Amino acid sequence: MIDQQIKSVIRDIPDFPKPGIIFKDITPILKNPQVCDAITDAFIDQLKDIEIDVVAGVESRGFLFGLTLANRLGVPFIPVRKAGKLPYSVKQKAYELEYGTATIELHTDAFEPGQKVLVHDDLLATGGTVTATSELIKEMGGEVAGFCFVVGLSFLEGREKITPISDRVIVLAEY
Ligand code: PRP
Ligand code: MG
Repeated sequence: MIDQQIKSVIRDIPDFPKPGIIFKDITPILKNPQVCDAITDAFIDQLKDIEIDVVAGVESRGFLFGLTLANRLGVPFIPVRKAGKLPYSVKQKAYELEYGTATIELHTDAFEPGQKVLVHDDLLATGGTVTATSELIKEMGGEVAGFCFVVGLSFLEGREKITPISDRVIVLAEY
């Protein structure tokens, strides 16, 4: 099973980035081409009945599988970046973090109005990042086709937060 494959290679890092947090380190996945392929295959399989025009990947770890996934689906990949990184004209969205705020950006020509955008990130925690991403996509005239993540932290209730945006939520390995 894909969840066992993922869990067998993910590494827990206690007290990173701050005391009390157990960080799920996905870098061992990236060193294992078989697991990377299995992750992409699982996404493709579980996405097969969803209409997708574009894949949006969230900086930075959402780029790792996002581009591969878009290539496999045969659709464009668009990077959702932290403020100040995209060179062309942008639309931005600020959102709340535990402490302070963050801002994400998309190029104004990232997709066409009415297109169905799959939102991908490596990990679903509180859901704050992909909620802000979805709001930006909708403000730009797009539709959120669904969400897909390699890992989910169910105790942070991200799934509950994002299901009202789209109930197509794919999480390959849930903790
Ligand atoms: C992590 C993770 C997700 C986000 C999930 O990214 O990669 O993008 O947090 O958290 P949320 O569901 O509570 O919004 P991080 O901000 O650490 O940046 P990185 O991907 O650039 O390492
Ligand atoms: Mg991230």
